[in-house]
Parts: sequence; structure tokens; C-alpha cells
Amino acid sequence: MKVLVIGANGNTGTRVIKRLANGNHDPVAMIRNPEHRAKFDSLGVPTILADLEYPIDHAVQGCDAMIFAAGSGGKTGKDKTVLIDHIGAIRSMVAAQVNDVRRYIMLSSINNDINSKSPIAHYHRAKAHADNHLIESDLDYTIVCPGGLTDEPGTDLVSISEELQGRGLTSRENLASALVACLDSDNTIGKSFSLLDGNTTLTEALNAL
Ligand SMILES: NC(=O)c1ccc[n+]([C@@H]2O[C@H](COP(=O)([O-])OP(=O)(O)OC[C@H]3O[C@@H](n4cnc5c(N)ncnc54)[C@H](OP(=O)(O)O)[C@@H]3O)[C@@H](O)[C@H]2O)c1
Repeated sequence: MKVLVIGANGNTGTRVIKRLANGNHDPVAMIRNPEHRAKFDSLGVPTILADLEYPIDHAVQGCDAMIFAAGSGGKTGKDKTVLIDHIGAIRSMVAAQVNDVRRYIMLSSINNDINSKSPIAHYHRAKAHADNHLIESDLDYTIVCPGGLTDEPGTDLVSISEELQGRGLTSRENLASALVACLDSDNTIGKSFSLLDGNTTLTEALNAL
């Protein structure tokens, strides 16, 4: 499959790209800064310039699947959380529908909730609104909800649950492996699940969904 990775230059997105480049799918890295091209050139991965605050149809066209690994991050204002994590995510879903990209994998977050009262409620609410839009769409979606992200080495040992509220940590390496594995795990279509580091092999945990 030709897979568009949105947020490809990010800490998780780059890990996703590297796995795809070494696997059986053809990644396209969606970036918003041309200076980031060199990194993907060196990996032999094509890039497309697009920004979630504007139409991205040109990036989506011709793809078979999308992995959304973008986010406004903790250093921007609440306005950017709405513009990127909520509206930008929905924009990408509509682009997928209009351009007949059926498979859509969302990197979301544990504890996302439209009524969140957490210390980062604006973020958890934005993610929940985007996820709800995806669930209501006709796309073949999977929503992966990690805990606090770390740069620990990947173990491919995880804990997966359809309970989306909780606490724990998720290595970005394990997360990237899970996002990519979903492409080849059709049983994850139509599912939302939390993903924490744990004791079950990723393959076993995904198969159990
Ligand atoms: N941090 C946590 O503990 C945690 C926990 C649960 C879930 N999450 C979710 O996991 C996601 C990925 O985490 P991460 O650490 O890999 O994030 P990251 O390194 O901050 O990467 C985010 C990516 O999104 C891109 N982006 C931002 N605004 C954009 C726009 N308008 N158009 C296109 N791309 C845009 C950034 O592009 P540039 O490279 O150009 O800046 C960056 O590459 C987060 O965004 C968050 O939603 C995080």
C-alpha cells in the first residue's frame, strides 16, 4: 500500500517512516517544512509538502492509507490544538474520503474525552472530537491511544485494551511498530484501543482485539 504519514518529521512519525521504508509498504512523508526533505531523501522516502491548517488533498491523492502522527505539541497555544489536533485531523479525514483513501490509522491519546477535565483538557477534548468524527465516518479506521510517550527502546511487548481511560507509558518505538502493524491487521479496522508498554507481544495483543 502507498501510505501517507502525516507528521512524518515528528518523533513518532519518523519512526513510522523508517519501519515502512524497511517493510512491504510504500511510505510518503508529509512534511510542512522543505528543510526537512533531506532526512527523507537519505531514507529513499518521497516527501510531499502540506500543512494541516490548509487543504491537503494534493498529498492524499493516490494513497491507499494514511497514518496520522501529527500534533500541535505542548509548546503552542490552545488555538493550535484546535486547528491541528481537532480541525486539521478532520480535514485529513475528509480529504481521505473525497480522494477514496479507505484506510485511516489515527495516533490518538489515552484519556481523550469530549468532557475532559484533565490538566490538558483542551488537548484531550480536541483528540476526542477528531476521533468521534473518524468513528462516524465510513473510513476503515483504527484509533491507537498511547499513554505518556517515551524514547525508551522498543520491546514489542505491550498491553492493549479497549478501555481508553488509564495511566501508563508507551515507548514511541512500540507505538510506531503498532501503527505500522495495524496496516496488515484487518481485525483492527473499526477498533479503538489503548496501547501501553507491557508484557504481551504486539502480534499477540493485536490478534486478540
Ligand atoms: N507526548 C505524549 O506524551 C503523548 C501522549 C499521548 C499521545 N500523544 C500524541 O502523539 C502525537 C505524536 O507525538 P510525537 O512526540 O511524535 O510528536 P512530535 O514529535 O511533536 O511530532 C508532531 C508532528 O506534527 C507535525 N505538525 C504540527 N503541526 C502541523 C501542521 N499544521 N501540518 C502538518 N504537520 C504538523 C510536526 O511538524 P514539524 O516537524 O514541522 O514541526 C511534527 O512533525 C502527539 O502529537 C500527540 O497527539 C502524545
